[in-house]
Order: sequence, then structure tokens, then C-alpha cells
Amino acid sequence: MMFSEFLEFIKSNEGAPPSAPDMNPNPSSEIIGAALPRIDGPQKTTGTARYASDYNFPNMAYAVPVRATIASGKIRRIDSSAAEKMPGVLVVLHHGNIMPLYRNASGGRNSESRPPFEDETIYYWGQYVAAVVAETFEQAQAAAAAVRVEYDADKFNVAKSLDDSLPEEGQPGGPRVMSHRGDTEGTFASAPVKVDETYVTPVETHNPMEMHATVAVWDGRKYTLYESSQGVMNHQNVLAQVLGEPKENVEVISRYIGSGFGGKLFPWPQSAIAAAAARKLNRPLNFTLNRKMMFSNSGHRPRTQQRIRIGATPDGKLVSLQQDYRNHTSYGDDFRENCGEATPFLYSTANLKVTSALVRRNVGTPTPMRGPGAVPGLFALESAMDELAIKLKKDPIELRLALDTLTDEEKNKPFSSRHLKECLQIGAEKFGWSRRTPEVGSMRKGDLILGWGVACASWGAGRGVSEAAVSLCSDGTARVSSGTQDIGTGTYTVMAQVVSDKTGIPIEKINVVLGDSSLPPGPTSGGSTATATILPSVIDAVNASIRIVLNVGTTAKASPFAGKDADSLTMTAGRVHAKGQSPQSGVPFQEILRAANLASANGEGKSGGLGADPKARNYSTHSFGAQFVEVEWDPGIATLRVSRVVSVIDGGRIINKRTATNQIAGAVVMGIGMGLFEETIYDPRNGHPINDNFADYIVPTIADAPDIDVHFLDIPDPIMNGYGVRGIGEIGLAGVAPAITAAVYHATGVRVRELPVRIEDLLSRSTA
Ligand code: MOS
Repeated sequence: MMFSEFLEFIKSNEGAPPSAPDMNPNPSSEIIGAALPRIDGPQKTTGTARYASDYNFPNMAYAVPVRATIASGKIRRIDSSAAEKMPGVLVVLHHGNIMPLYRNASGGRNSESRPPFEDETIYYWGQYVAAVVAETFEQAQAAAAAVRVEYDADKFNVAKSLDDSLPEEGQPGGPRVMSHRGDTEGTFASAPVKVDETYVTPVETHNPMEMHATVAVWDGRKYTLYESSQGVMNHQNVLAQVLGEPKENVEVISRYIGSGFGGKLFPWPQSAIAAAAARKLNRPLNFTLNRKMMFSNSGHRPRTQQRIRIGATPDGKLVSLQQDYRNHTSYGDDFRENCGEATPFLYSTANLKVTSALVRRNVGTPTPMRGPGAVPGLFALESAMDELAIKLKKDPIELRLALDTLTDEEKNKPFSSRHLKECLQIGAEKFGWSRRTPEVGSMRKGDLILGWGVACASWGAGRGVSEAAVSLCSDGTARVSSGTQDIGTGTYTVMAQVVSDKTGIPIEKINVVLGDSSLPPGPTSGGSTATATILPSVIDAVNASIRIVLNVGTTAKASPFAGKDADSLTMTAGRVHAKGQSPQSGVPFQEILRAANLASANGEGKSGGLGADPKARNYSTHSFGAQFVEVEWDPGIATLRVSRVVSVIDGGRIINKRTATNQIAGAVVMGIGMGLFEETIYDPRNGHPINDNFADYIVPTIADAPDIDVHFLDIPDPIMNGYGVRGIGEIGLAGVAPAITAAVYHATGVRVRELPVRIEDLLSRSTA
């Protein structure tokens, strides 16, 4: 979701306790920052990790949806008589016969505001109109094809251009001022140098490897939902409301997730349909989306159209910056793609305005996709900055360095930690920028023309409320748990690292338990906030569990420290010993537990959000970065590829170099998809996303992946938490696409303002 909205979301349950413990960034540590392999890697690579649709139970039934073949209108009649007589069919559920499903209004966020099958209205092609449940998947699939649905179709709109006239300011969807300071109109009008261009980003569809799936089990009282969810606690909260149950009657489990990119932040309709069907039949039930359904029934990044106006002085000062953006949304929901996420604070300028408007289309509801708002927004802003540099005949890095600011000029607060300058400087050094010749087509490698481009990256940094539990066990292991989840980013591993760092227990003796809403409530994996959010609660829980061991050590008769003061003891390297003496002088913690006949010492931890932290209130918290891209343009055979990327990230302290590098490298590859390949295309004849498959919707493959050099500044953020960690899930995608189009311009002289870059853009207009 847009980052500001994400912060609202995590603040919504911010009643919790004080701020993070351990506010001073830790001294150096061998395990923090190490490039450790993922502790869940062996399960994933040997096929023993169970993903949602891997859960299998005796007597399982399978659901396959029937999807609307119109984009707008009403269902006139559903004839399921033929389908119901087919082999293995158990039930056909639809608006007329599904149990009551409700909206949610008590916190939590659902993807669509309406529950499935709420009425007979169709808002988009592919909307679920019925679900066939059968003994086998194949039987359900065959019967779903036999359900006859008659519609009263209305006119619909899936037009690409968002040039529609908008509702009045103040009306739903009408222009809204998102940020404003100074006088943009007057200063733009009189500015000696101007850029005034419109930039367009297409609909992009989330394509994680693992598709959405729900395995629902009803036991007569309680639902257990095996999901692929980026937020098991939110999913539990929302589904309890949709199903009309108290929370304790819904348990959500997501042990392993094959990524999500934002598409799995909030529940989609298959979850409630699966739960309702499992209850009706009193059987476990599997409802798995196929790849085609992923393009209609589980969100997308909406199309954006952004006009940027920059007024500048000949020496490169910004006198005026205005961004007016629109994004499409659906007829069911108002989804705002916050393209002005980074605009108000990235560069210094006294006069700034950002406006936003929504344009309705008959498409499924958009949802956050990695770096929502900021990523398409930075495509526009950073492209315009590159165009400005060219107009000014200035180096694009020099232009940006001169506009850097350590104050958030929108909030009028200093940044907690901003090192954008260093990102640009170090990146330039690593990339070899000083060898760049600015003239279009001037750099060659044999028959290839090289283009070099740069763009800045930014993404908000947040911390929400979290709870965790840590048990130090008498067999010498530790268990750490929290109701959060690992969407592939490394959450399991960084939690183990922190417990190991704080206790000295080796990493292989630490069990991490996540992905279950019955655990102490942990954060949603969203907005790149999970690591920063969860670590303080883990530290709090570790401290509590150590405290128990030390106390027991002074009271258990068989303990070598019996009768001592607990404050005189400490635990290092997994051993309890007197403060000021070596760990070797003491005993392993498990011996203390055994002496006291305890199975484990169980500590509970809690930590609060940034918003409730008095120390954080005076700062603006963001991550920054710089992306350097080389493209190779072969004019002889008209091929373009991204050949080299240097990505320098200022994301606070890095807990695990390997998982962090993977995050950024993966995001860079996703950025190549955004820059060169990805676009969901709606058929104007019926509204069907016509390229809803991997043959026609192109995602980058390993063959498209360039040489990627990821570098972290690794500077702890003193405000975020005890380790100085921010977040790195999303920022790696920010700035990649505009760096690509800047490089394409440098190679070919063609400025592409509408993504993705197409070979035909270059064929017809290339000057090189
Ligand atoms: Mo991120 S779009 O909040 O998964």
C-alpha cells in the first residue's frame, strides 16, 4: 500500500507499550551483518517446506470458481443444473445460496470492500460469480465449465488513457492536494528553464512463484485457514469479521510463502469462499488460484499518468516542482497509488505541489505492489530530473548532489539518517561514471551502443507494534516465535541471528516459529517494516527469558550461583557467569534450568511503534539509494538489454548481507521487468486481461538478468530500533526503471515516457 497508508495501518493498533528497548545501536557483532544462508533454505530446497496448497487432509474437496465473462452488469440467472449432475460434484455456491458473509469495519484491511457473492453486480471481467466444489480438482474444473451464467451486460470502460474529465475537487475521485508549499504556479511561469512532461506506467500484475491458495478446515467450531499471506494476524482479523465469528474461531497459518510483492498483504475473496464451502460440506477444502486468475482476482499495480512540471534556474536550483498524477481504480474500491510518496522531500525546493486523482475502470481492485506509489512516482520524477539535467547540460549526478538536503522540507524535520549523497558518490565510483561521455550514442562496445543512466531511490522507513516470545530450553536450544511470517525475505533467519547475538546460542540451535495467528501478534510483512518492527520485540523477549534464567540461577538449590544476587550475573556465549568474569567461569544456561527442574525459561516481549516513540517524533525516517544502469543497444538487429546495474542502498544497518543482497538483486530484476517487459493489457472488446499467462505477460528471466552489484552503506539509523535497522524489501525496485530509460536515452536519443520501453519506440526514432 502507499507507505503513508501503511503507517496508518500499523499505527492503528499502537496502544502498546513504550518504545524499543536498547536504543543505542549495538557494538559490532560477528553474527549481525553476517552473510548467513537462510535457515529455512534446506526445507525449501528439499521440498519439505509446506506452502498453503500443499496441506492435504483426508476427505479433501476442491473448489474451482466460475468467473464473469462480462466487465460490467448484472447476473440474470445462474443455471448450475447440468454441473450439479456431473461426477463428483458436491455443491455449486453462488450469491443465492452461500452462507452470510460480511464486510469488515473493525480494523484490519480487506483487499475488496465487499465479501464475495454479495450481490449480483459485476464490476470486472473474471469476478467470481460461483464456485463449484467436487471430490477432485479435475471434476470441479470440468463442472465449473458447465455452469451457465446469463448476464445483463452494461457498458464498461477499460481504456488505457486516463485523460477522462475528473470529478470536482472534494468529490470522490476528484483532484486532491497531497502536499503543498509555496507558490508553484507563479514560480514555474517565470522559471528560466522548464520541464513539463507526462509520464505513464502501465498496469502490472504481481506474479509471485506461489499462487494464492486457501486450504480451509472447519472442525464444528473453528476455522483453520492455510493461506499464502503476508499478514496472518490481519488475515485472521478480517476473516473473523467476514465470517461473522469471534477472532479465536479463526486461525490463519502461513508457514512458508513463495513471495507476494504486496499481492498477499490482505485477504482475497477465495479465502472466504473456501471457508464457507468447508463449513457447508463439513470437509477440508482446497481453493487454489491458477496463473490466469492471478491477473483478475488478486490485485495489480494500477496504471498511472503523471504530469511533472519543474522550474529551474540555469545553475540547477529547483524553483518549482509540481506533480499531478492519476491512477485507475476499480468500481468497488478507492485505491490511491501514492505517486507523490518521495516527491515532497527528495530534493530541496521552496515551491512544491502534489495532486492526486482517481479514474474508475472496470478492473479488479488494485493493491499495493512492491514500493507502491514511490516506484511509479519515482519513474516520473527521476525521468524529469534526467530531462532537466540534459536541458541544463549538467551531469545528472552533479545536479542531484547539489539539490540534496538533510531536512525533510515537507515535515520540516531532519531525517533520522540520510546518506543519498554517499549512495550517488559510491555508486558513481563503482560504476565508473567518470568515464561516461554525455553525448547520445557516444559510447560503444564493438557494434553495440552503450547507454548509462542513473536515478535515485527512496522508500519510507517505519516500525509498528509487535510481540514475540523466546524460550531458552533445558536441552540447550532456544525457540523464538511471533505471529509474523517470512515471505521469502529472510525473516526466519534474521530473528535467529538476533537471538543468537543476544544469547550466544549458536544459530543451528535456535528454532524460529512463525506464520500462525495463534502466536503472539507480530507485524504484517509490508511496507518494508517487518524487520525493524519485530526485532525490538524479540530483544525484549530475549531479555525477559535471560532474566528468568538468572533469577532461577540464584534461587535453585543445585545452582552454582544459589544465594547470589541476580544483578551480579549475566549471560554471554550461552553461559551464565558473574559479571566482569569470563563466560568460561560460569555454566551453560541449560544446566541452570536443569538444576531448577525447568523445561524452559519463557520470556515475552513487546515493542511499540515509531509514532508512539517520543524520540522518533522529531525525525523523518526514510531509506535512500542510487541505481546505475548500463544498457546495450544493438541498432543493427534492434535489440536492447540491460547489461549492468550498480545499486547502492542506504537502508540502515544490515542484519544479513546475503538475504539483504538477494532482496535488492531480486528487486533490480523486477525493475528490468517494469522497464522493459511488463504490462497487463485489457481487451477493449470484453475487459479480459488478455495476456493473463506467462507466454504473453513477459517477466524477466535469468537470461535478462544483468551483472548486478549491490552495495549497502550499512549505516545504523539511530532512531529506528536497537540495531539501527530500517527496511530493504522495496527500495531496490525504486529508481531502476527511470535509470533504464535514462540509459536508453543516452544510447539512442529516444526518451521513453511510457513504460515499458518497446523496441518499436527505438526502431522508429533512434538517432544512434
Ligand atoms: Mo509491500 S507492497 O507493502 O508487500
